[in-house]
Amino acid sequence: MLLKNKNAVIYGGGGAIGGAVARAFAREGAKVFLAGRTLAKLDEVAADISAAGGFAETAQVDALDEKSVEKHVDSVAAKVGGIDIALNAVGINHVQGTPIAELSLEDYELPITVYTRTNFITAKAVARHMTNNGSGVILTLSTPASRMPGPGYMGHSVACAGIEAFTRHLAGELAPSGIRVICLRSHMIPEATTLGSHSRDIFGFVAERVGVTIEEMMAGAAGGTLLKRLPTLAEVANTAVFMASEHAGSMTGTVANLTSGFILD
Ligand SMILES: NC(=O)c1ccc[n+]([C@@H]2O[C@H](COP(=O)([O-])OP(=O)(O)OC[C@H]3O[C@@H](n4cnc5c(N)ncnc54)[C@H](OP(=O)(O)O)[C@@H]3O)[C@@H](O)[C@H]2O)c1
Repeated sequence: MLLKNKNAVIYGGGGAIGGAVARAFAREGAKVFLAGRTLAKLDEVAADISAAGGFAETAQVDALDEKSVEKHVDSVAAKVGGIDIALNAVGINHVQGTPIAELSLEDYELPITVYTRTNFITAKAVARHMTNNGSGVILTLSTPASRMPGPGYMGHSVACAGIEAFTRHLAGELAPSGIRVICLRSHMIPEATTLGSHSRDIFGFVAERVGVTIEEMMAGAAGGTLLKRLPTLAEVANTAVFMASEHAGSMTGTVANLTSGFILD
């Protein structure tokens, strides 16, 4: 088991990626603490983990509210003695596929504000405990939009580039405390859209705009990669496990590129 005796907190733990990573962390021996807005979604993931013999607890927490996150993190750390791994898998519906001439300032700002705010809040809260223990791993999520030119992805693109910059900067700030920070940059994950991810609404809007179905749009995206396929949830979750484990002990301040060769570093 790669994460035996580790304590992991996951914000957005009831979502497609958060849930998949939670199950994978638990499979590898971690105690998993799931937080998000909708308790029913978190409880579903926790039930799967318990049924498989793992440990999971859930809590209703608004990951955009600093005090609520601090309170949650402190209660987990007090209960199990510390936090070893944190993932922010929060996702919100926002506008993609709209060129700047038609994009409102509010729609441009929303993903930038939400993603940079929630990652700041959760990273700052867990870093206090990880610093006390002299070790820890913080994982963030991004998309190929961080490196794509336009048109149509202005707010989303700036948000993703911001999260990757946040990851690099945080890695530099926290390295002296033995904390690693890594971003997982995944291309669109077809399974997520069938699991109720907010991405279904986003992709649906974009697909409708160009007059294709979501499935046709994803097939087109797959065709644009070197591998001619999009990543699976299992690949993203297993990469998260590896990055959180000692096997990735020399990695920090970097991006795990899960774009099937769409974006080349
Ligand atoms: N899906 C993809 O293809 C894909 C690919 C690459 C990267 N990503 C990125 O991965 C992240 C997660 O994507 P996903 O597909 O897993 O999304 P998802 O299934 O929609 O999950 C997002 C989760 O975030 C939670 N959430 C939203 N606002 C919150 C808040 N203020 N406080 C606490 N929890 C909150 C949601 O809970 P509620 O429903 O209760 O609000 C939901 O469970 C996003 O940042 C996305 O950009 C996704």
